[in-house]
Amino acid sequence: MEIQLWKELLDPYEQAVSELLVKFRNLKEAHKKQNLYSPIESVSGRVKSVSSILEKMQRKDIAFENLEEEVEDIAGVRIICQFVEDIDKVVSLVQNRTDMEIRSTKDYLSNQKKSGYRSLHLIIWYTVQGINGPKKLQVEIQIRTMAMNFWATTEHSLQYKYKGSIPEHVRSQLTRASQAIEMLDKEMSQVRSEIMDAQIDSQMEISLVQDILRNIENLYRQDNKREVVKIQNEFYRIFSKHSMEELKRFHKQLDILAEGSRAQSVDSVISTEEK
Ligand code: GTP
Ligand code: MG
Repeated sequence: MEIQLWKELLDPYEQAVSELLVKFRNLKEAHKKQNLYSPIESVSGRVKSVSSILEKMQRKDIAFENLEEEVEDIAGVRIICQFVEDIDKVVSLVQNRTDMEIRSTKDYLSNQKKSGYRSLHLIIWYTVQGINGPKKLQVEIQIRTMAMNFWATTEHSLQYKYKGSIPEHVRSQLTRASQAIEMLDKEMSQVRSEIMDAQIDSQMEISLVQDILRNIENLYRQDNKREVVKIQNEFYRIFSKHSMEELKRFHKQLDILAEGSRAQSVDSVISTEEK
């Protein structure tokens, strides 16, 4: 039998995880840039350690030749959402992509595990391009809320501490905690629309302020500097009023002013060229 070349085996999985992290983080940013609420709150990933792979192969009696087929979570990505409702939205985002193909779904939301574990898992096919051409491999994507993640992380540490056999009284505490988590997620869903509005408003304010300051800077380069300082002071005054409506109005006025000044500078370029 040949020896196992772990590094060669795991390298494409490392590549898959790092590519997927970038892709999911970009999805989150793309929502922000368009002032849209993002169903993705945060993303993390890891490649399974050799010792965990060996442990799983022994536990499930998996032969080396079936390793890549049967150990579906060599590459793992975890997507954390704010609300339960976001989980399905993330699934749709994955479904709509051409670079990820859902192979199977494990729904531990409708069918929570005996332990109390809740999450939605997708096993996807993902192709990485290596120096020897493309390689299609499996990646496990775990999608869960922050609250579910809190529970799973805590329970995982306890499993580690008790080497897999958590004492009964701790188990029942975890079961109760899991029920509390489910309640918490339901309560949060009730205020979801308000939280989403607040987040979109704050994102909108960030973009408005960026835009306004960019315009003021441009004007400063072209126009009467003393006038532009006045405009900036007026902006600070309006900003301190915390009124989105006033901020939007100021933004619009400034846009018109900037447009006029651009036209003027184009005029002056044309007239110098004509001279
Ligand atoms: P593993 O051998 O544990 O990977 O399980 P599996 O291949 O049979 O798949 P399963 O869907 O049961 O679990 C996949 C992954 O979900 C695990 O590796 C964990 O990250 C997570 N998970 C599943 N069950 C539990 C649980 O009871 N508690 C915690 N904390 N995580 C779990
Ligand atoms: Mg696993």
